[in-house]
Amino acid sequence: MIIAIDGPAGSGKSTIARLLSEKLGLPYIDTGAFYRCAALHSLRNPESSERNISLFVNEMRIRIGTPDDPAIIILNDEDVSEKIRTPQIAMEVSNIADMKNVRIEINKKLRASAEVTGGILEGRDIQTLVCPQADVKFFLTATPETRAKRRLGDYEGMKINKTPEEVLADIKRRDKRDYQRDYGPLKKADDAVEIDTSDMTLSQVVARMLEIIRGS
Ligand code: DC
Repeated sequence: MIIAIDGPAGSGKSTIARLLSEKLGLPYIDTGAFYRCAALHSLRNPESSERNISLFVNEMRIRIGTPDDPAIIILNDEDVSEKIRTPQIAMEVSNIADMKNVRIEINKKLRASAEVTGGILEGRDIQTLVCPQADVKFFLTATPETRAKRRLGDYEGMKINKTPEEVLADIKRRDKRDYQRDYGPLKKADDAVEIDTSDMTLSQVVARMLEIIRGS
Protein backbone atom coordinates (compact mmCIF):
# COMPACT_ATOMS: atom_id res chain seq x y z
CA MET A 1 0.00 0.00 0.00
CA ILE A 2 1.25 3.49 -0.85
CA ILE A 3 -0.07 6.57 0.97
CA ALA A 4 0.99 9.96 -0.43
CA ILE A 5 0.96 13.01 1.83
CA ASP A 6 1.89 16.39 0.37
CA GLY A 7 1.70 19.90 1.72
CA PRO A 8 3.71 23.02 2.48
CA ALA A 9 6.44 23.33 5.12
CA GLY A 10 5.07 23.04 8.65
CA SER A 11 1.72 21.53 7.68
CA GLY A 12 2.41 18.62 10.03
CA LYS A 13 3.25 16.03 7.36
CA SER A 14 6.24 14.40 9.00
CA THR A 15 4.77 14.02 12.51
CA ILE A 16 1.52 12.72 11.07
CA ALA A 17 3.24 10.35 8.63
CA ARG A 18 5.27 8.92 11.50
CA LEU A 19 2.15 8.34 13.61
CA LEU A 20 0.31 6.72 10.69
CA SER A 21 3.31 4.54 9.99
CA GLU A 22 3.20 3.21 13.59
CA LYS A 23 -0.55 2.62 13.46
CA LEU A 24 -0.59 0.95 10.03
CA GLY A 25 2.76 -0.86 10.21
CA LEU A 26 3.91 0.70 6.94
CA PRO A 27 7.40 2.18 6.39
CA TYR A 28 7.64 5.96 6.67
CA ILE A 29 9.54 7.69 3.85
CA ASP A 30 10.47 11.30 4.69
CA THR A 31 11.22 12.54 1.17
CA GLY A 32 12.28 16.01 2.37
CA ALA A 33 15.19 14.29 4.15
CA PHE A 34 16.57 13.28 0.72
CA TYR A 35 16.57 16.93 -0.37
CA ARG A 36 18.06 17.99 2.97
CA CYS A 37 20.89 15.44 2.65
CA ALA A 38 21.67 16.77 -0.84
CA ALA A 39 21.68 20.30 0.66
CA LEU A 40 24.11 19.16 3.37
CA HIS A 41 26.44 17.82 0.67
CA SER A 42 26.14 21.11 -1.21
CA LEU A 43 26.95 23.23 1.88
CA ARG A 44 29.95 21.03 2.66
CA ASN A 45 31.12 21.27 -0.97
CA PRO A 46 30.28 24.83 -1.99
CA GLU A 47 31.73 24.41 -5.50
CA SER A 48 29.34 21.57 -6.36
CA SER A 49 27.50 21.81 -9.66
CA GLU A 50 24.01 20.40 -10.26
CA ARG A 51 25.65 17.43 -11.97
CA ASN A 52 27.91 16.77 -8.99
CA ILE A 53 24.95 16.94 -6.58
CA SER A 54 22.91 14.60 -8.82
CA LEU A 55 25.79 12.10 -8.80
CA PHE A 56 26.02 12.34 -5.02
CA VAL A 57 22.27 11.68 -4.74
CA ASN A 58 22.54 8.72 -7.09
CA GLU A 59 25.15 7.13 -4.82
CA MET A 60 23.95 8.20 -1.37
CA ARG A 61 22.45 5.69 1.04
CA ILE A 62 19.75 7.01 3.36
CA ARG A 63 18.20 5.15 6.23
CA ILE A 64 15.14 6.63 7.91
CA GLY A 65 14.47 5.46 11.46
CA THR A 66 15.67 2.50 13.48
CA PRO A 67 13.62 0.38 15.89
CA ASP A 68 15.11 2.46 18.77
CA ASP A 69 14.74 5.88 17.18
CA PRO A 70 12.10 6.37 14.46
CA ALA A 71 13.28 9.96 13.79
CA ILE A 72 16.93 9.16 13.07
CA ILE A 73 18.32 9.89 9.57
CA ILE A 74 21.53 8.10 8.59
CA LEU A 75 23.36 9.34 5.48
CA ASN A 76 26.16 7.01 4.34
CA ASP A 77 26.68 5.78 7.95
CA GLU A 78 26.64 9.32 9.45
CA ASP A 79 23.85 10.37 11.82
CA VAL A 80 22.67 13.64 10.22
CA SER A 81 19.32 13.88 12.02
CA GLU A 82 20.04 17.29 13.55
CA LYS A 83 22.51 18.55 10.93
CA ILE A 84 19.80 18.54 8.25
CA ARG A 85 17.28 20.53 10.35
CA THR A 86 19.23 23.79 10.74
CA PRO A 87 18.13 27.17 9.32
CA GLN A 88 21.17 27.05 6.94
CA ILE A 89 19.88 23.82 5.44
CA ALA A 90 16.36 25.30 5.24
CA MET A 91 17.82 28.08 3.04
CA GLU A 92 20.01 25.84 0.87
CA VAL A 93 17.41 23.12 0.35
CA SER A 94 15.19 25.46 -1.69
CA ASN A 95 18.02 25.83 -4.23
CA ILE A 96 18.49 22.08 -4.33
CA ALA A 97 14.76 21.46 -4.77
CA ASP A 98 14.77 23.68 -7.87
CA MET A 99 17.38 21.46 -9.60
CA LYS A 100 15.49 19.27 -12.05
CA ASN A 101 18.24 16.66 -12.39
CA VAL A 102 18.53 16.30 -8.64
CA ARG A 103 14.75 15.86 -8.40
CA ILE A 104 14.87 13.15 -11.09
CA GLU A 105 17.56 11.22 -9.15
CA ILE A 106 15.72 11.55 -5.83
CA ASN A 107 12.45 10.46 -7.43
CA LYS A 108 14.10 7.31 -8.84
CA LYS A 109 15.22 6.36 -5.32
CA LEU A 110 11.81 7.12 -3.81
CA ARG A 111 9.93 5.10 -6.43
CA ALA A 112 12.28 2.14 -5.99
CA SER A 113 11.68 2.13 -2.21
CA ALA A 114 7.93 2.55 -2.56
CA GLU A 115 7.70 -0.27 -5.10
CA VAL A 116 9.55 -2.74 -2.87
CA THR A 117 8.04 -1.97 0.53
CA GLY A 118 5.06 0.32 -0.04
CA GLY A 119 4.87 3.01 2.58
CA ILE A 120 3.80 6.44 3.65
CA LEU A 121 5.61 9.02 1.55
CA GLU A 122 5.40 12.67 2.51
CA GLY A 123 6.71 15.57 0.46
CA ARG A 124 5.62 18.05 -2.21
CA ASP A 125 5.17 16.13 -5.47
CA ILE A 126 4.42 12.60 -4.28
CA GLN A 127 0.77 12.45 -5.38
CA THR A 128 1.39 14.19 -8.71
CA LEU A 129 4.80 12.98 -9.87
CA VAL A 130 6.53 10.39 -7.70
CA CYS A 131 3.62 8.00 -6.98
CA PRO A 132 0.53 9.19 -8.86
CA GLN A 133 -0.73 5.60 -8.48
CA ALA A 134 -0.79 5.90 -4.65
CA ASP A 135 -3.72 4.15 -2.99
CA VAL A 136 -4.68 7.16 -0.86
CA LYS A 137 -3.59 10.79 -1.33
CA PHE A 138 -3.74 13.58 1.23
CA PHE A 139 -3.00 17.27 0.82
CA LEU A 140 -2.35 18.87 4.22
CA THR A 141 -2.50 22.63 4.68
CA ALA A 142 -2.49 25.18 7.52
CA THR A 143 -2.19 28.96 7.59
CA PRO A 144 1.37 30.34 7.25
CA GLU A 145 1.11 31.74 10.81
CA THR A 146 0.17 28.35 12.28
CA ARG A 147 2.97 26.67 10.37
CA ALA A 148 5.53 29.28 11.46
CA LYS A 149 4.51 28.75 15.10
CA ARG A 150 5.08 25.00 14.75
CA ARG A 151 8.48 25.50 13.08
CA LEU A 152 9.50 27.96 15.81
CA GLY A 153 8.68 25.28 18.39
CA ASP A 154 10.95 22.83 16.52
CA TYR A 155 13.80 25.37 16.52
CA GLU A 156 13.35 26.10 20.25
CA GLY A 157 13.61 22.37 20.93
CA MET A 158 16.93 22.39 19.04
CA LYS A 159 18.13 25.53 20.91
CA ILE A 160 18.21 27.53 17.66
CA ASN A 161 17.45 31.23 18.10
CA LYS A 162 15.00 32.64 15.55
CA THR A 163 12.36 35.33 15.91
CA PRO A 164 8.73 34.53 14.99
CA GLU A 165 9.01 37.13 12.18
CA GLU A 166 12.09 35.42 10.71
CA VAL A 167 10.42 32.02 10.77
CA LEU A 168 7.22 33.35 9.16
CA ALA A 169 9.24 35.08 6.41
CA ASP A 170 11.13 31.84 5.79
CA ILE A 171 7.89 29.84 5.56
CA LYS A 172 6.44 32.31 3.03
CA ARG A 173 9.64 32.30 0.97
CA ARG A 174 9.64 28.49 0.85
CA ASP A 175 5.91 28.36 -0.02
CA LYS A 176 6.50 30.60 -3.00
CA ARG A 177 9.31 28.43 -4.29
CA ASP A 178 7.46 25.17 -3.58
CA TYR A 179 4.27 26.24 -5.37
CA GLN A 180 6.00 27.97 -8.29
CA ARG A 181 8.82 25.60 -9.22
CA ASP A 182 8.75 24.53 -12.89
CA TYR A 183 9.40 20.82 -12.32
CA GLY A 184 7.64 19.00 -9.46
CA PRO A 185 5.79 21.93 -7.86
CA LEU A 186 3.67 21.48 -4.75
CA LYS A 187 0.22 20.68 -6.08
CA LYS A 188 -2.91 18.87 -4.94
CA ALA A 189 -3.91 15.93 -7.14
CA ASP A 190 -7.54 15.97 -8.31
CA ASP A 191 -8.30 12.81 -6.32
CA ALA A 192 -6.52 13.88 -3.10
CA VAL A 193 -8.32 14.62 0.16
CA GLU A 194 -7.41 18.09 1.45
CA ILE A 195 -7.26 18.63 5.22
CA ASP A 196 -6.69 22.06 6.78
CA THR A 197 -4.92 21.24 10.05
CA SER A 198 -4.83 24.83 11.40
CA ASP A 199 -7.44 24.24 14.08
CA MET A 200 -7.05 20.52 14.54
CA THR A 201 -5.00 18.58 17.06
CA LEU A 202 -2.57 15.95 15.82
CA SER A 203 -4.79 13.14 17.04
CA GLN A 204 -7.82 14.62 15.27
CA VAL A 205 -5.91 14.76 11.99
CA VAL A 206 -4.62 11.21 12.38
CA ALA A 207 -8.10 9.90 13.28
CA ARG A 208 -9.61 11.55 10.20
CA MET A 209 -6.90 10.15 7.94
CA LEU A 210 -7.26 6.64 9.36
CA GLU A 211 -11.00 6.81 8.74
CA ILE A 212 -10.36 7.71 5.09
CA ILE A 213 -7.62 5.08 4.64
CA ARG A 214 -9.75 2.32 6.17
CA GLY A 215 -12.75 3.33 4.09
CA SER A 216 -10.80 3.41 0.81
O1 DC B 1 9.46 18.67 4.09
P1 DC B 1 10.81 19.35 4.32
O2 DC B 1 10.70 20.73 4.94
O3 DC B 1 11.77 18.49 5.05
O4 DC B 1 11.40 19.56 2.84
C1 DC B 1 12.64 20.16 2.62
C2 DC B 1 12.68 20.82 1.26
O5 DC B 1 12.69 19.87 0.23
C3 DC B 1 11.56 21.78 0.96
O6 DC B 1 12.10 23.09 0.74
C4 DC B 1 10.90 21.31 -0.30
C5 DC B 1 11.77 20.19 -0.78
N1 DC B 1 11.01 18.99 -1.12
C6 DC B 1 10.58 18.87 -2.41
O7 DC B 1 10.80 19.78 -3.21
N2 DC B 1 9.94 17.73 -2.80
C7 DC B 1 9.70 16.75 -1.91
N3 DC B 1 9.07 15.63 -2.32
C8 DC B 1 10.10 16.88 -0.57
C9 DC B 1 10.74 18.03 -0.20
